[in-house]
Amino acid sequence: MMNNRDRWRVYKRVSVMFLLAVLALTVVQRGNINMGAPFELERQARMDASEGAEPGAALEGKTGSYLGITGFWKSGKQKSATKSRTTTQGPRSTEDNSLKMWDVTSTNCSANPNISSQDWFKSLEPNFKQFLLYRHCRYFPMVLNHPEKCKGDVYLLMVIKSVATQHDRREVIRKTWGKEQVVDGKRIKTLFLIGKPSNEAERANHQKLVEFEDYIYGDILQWDFLDTFFNLTLKETHFLKWFNTYCPHVHYVFKGDDDVFVSVENIFEFLESSSNAKDLFVGDVIVKAVPIRRKENKYYIPHALYSKPNYPPYAGGGGFLMDGALAKKLYWAADTLELYPIDDVFLGMCLEVLHVTPIKHNAFKTFGLVKNKQSKLNREPCFFKSMIVVHKLLPSDLMHMWNLVNSDLVCSQKVEIL
Ligand SMILES: *[C@@H]1O[C@H](CO)[C@@H](O)[C@H](O)[C@H]1NC(C)=O
Ligand SMILES: *[C@@H]1O[C@H](CO)[C@@H](O)[C@H](O)[C@H]1NC(C)=O
Ligand SMILES: *[C@@H]1O[C@H](CO)[C@@H](O)[C@H](O)[C@H]1NC(C)=O
Repeated sequence: MMNNRDRWRVYKRVSVMFLLAVLALTVVQRGNINMGAPFELERQARMDASEGAEPGAALEGKTGSYLGITGFWKSGKQKSATKSRTTTQGPRSTEDNSLKMWDVTSTNCSANPNISSQDWFKSLEPNFKQFLLYRHCRYFPMVLNHPEKCKGDVYLLMVIKSVATQHDRREVIRKTWGKEQVVDGKRIKTLFLIGKPSNEAERANHQKLVEFEDYIYGDILQWDFLDTFFNLTLKETHFLKWFNTYCPHVHYVFKGDDDVFVSVENIFEFLESSSNAKDLFVGDVIVKAVPIRRKENKYYIPHALYSKPNYPPYAGGGGFLMDGALAKKLYWAADTLELYPIDDVFLGMCLEVLHVTPIKHNAFKTFGLVKNKQSKLNREPCFFKSMIVVHKLLPSDLMHMWNLVNSDLVCSQKVEIL
């Protein structure tokens, strides 16, 4: 039988070991130590060892001491203290005294019994069945929240769709285009949107890491729904609701993927040139897109789900810009529609409800640059320098390209995009 003291000692030892493991992982992920196989946390390509930043930068400033960090892992008590900092309630005093907060605190949503007996439903693929059975479950509770994120005057809110396991992508974004900073007196803030890993093993292994990452950086919003392809629309609607709740004074929102290159400089230049546009929504817009009916395709949609020949105009979800006022209207529009499994198309449907036409801009390249993957454009920094968004880059390539673009790059001809 262990007495309390022994139990405490074991508990402490386990906590410290866990902390050390996590610190090691953090450092390895930041690319400073090339430890190789033992820390194969992610199957993804990892940042090149040569591209790491200053050791320990992750821990600077924020917490001040290692003690504070041990506290995070130490005991349930302290954990719940951090929890209350990050969960739904948040600080009650907001600047305009509106006591708005995330109002969904429990999930009680069962499969819709009304459709499973219908013939058209029975013939659908399993993923569409899954989608339709839970389509009416619109909102879920928050696991990690940051009610304080939009406090004060925020010029540009960078919102990035990510998933729990992609620690390295978030890490690079924080060092490059997603850095929270003040440019010309204008504040930029950053948030990552994640759900719960859909795979059980990942859920078990990554949740603590995600919480720790958020404890250090304070930039993760997490909701209690599974991160699946069809649930990306939930990520969209949850963000819109969150934004509507907590962000009354944000001027612009950039929303994108965690594997894109973004030029903040060009976003600023663009916004300054269009500063009095109302209902601004700009991106890589496709008009009259035809729903894909080939079952092998990732974006396949059966007629039962959408029967019209075309989608409304929509911007590729890889990266687009909108103004804060429009984002709030989109929240109301989204609430009038049934969820659609493709998130960017869904947003196009919301825009249609609002009679807002998204604007196509050539500096947004979210549907692929050029067909030919070998094309030199894919590696040409002068091309990236003239763009606002380019998909799709591995973390190491993003870091590399960012450094090139922000070096003393001399481009022989200025590509006129803006
Ligand atoms: C969840 O919903 C079911 C059926 O609607 C109800 O019987 C049950 O009490 C609810 N549970 C909670 C925890 O609200
Ligand atoms: C199922 O049908 C009943 C009766 O028409 C309706 O009240 C209920 O809201 C439906 N359930 C869902 C989840 O749509
Ligand atoms: C979306 O997430 C909810 C909650 O975790 C889950 O019940 C549902 O099956 C998911 N939907 C899809 C289509 O994966």
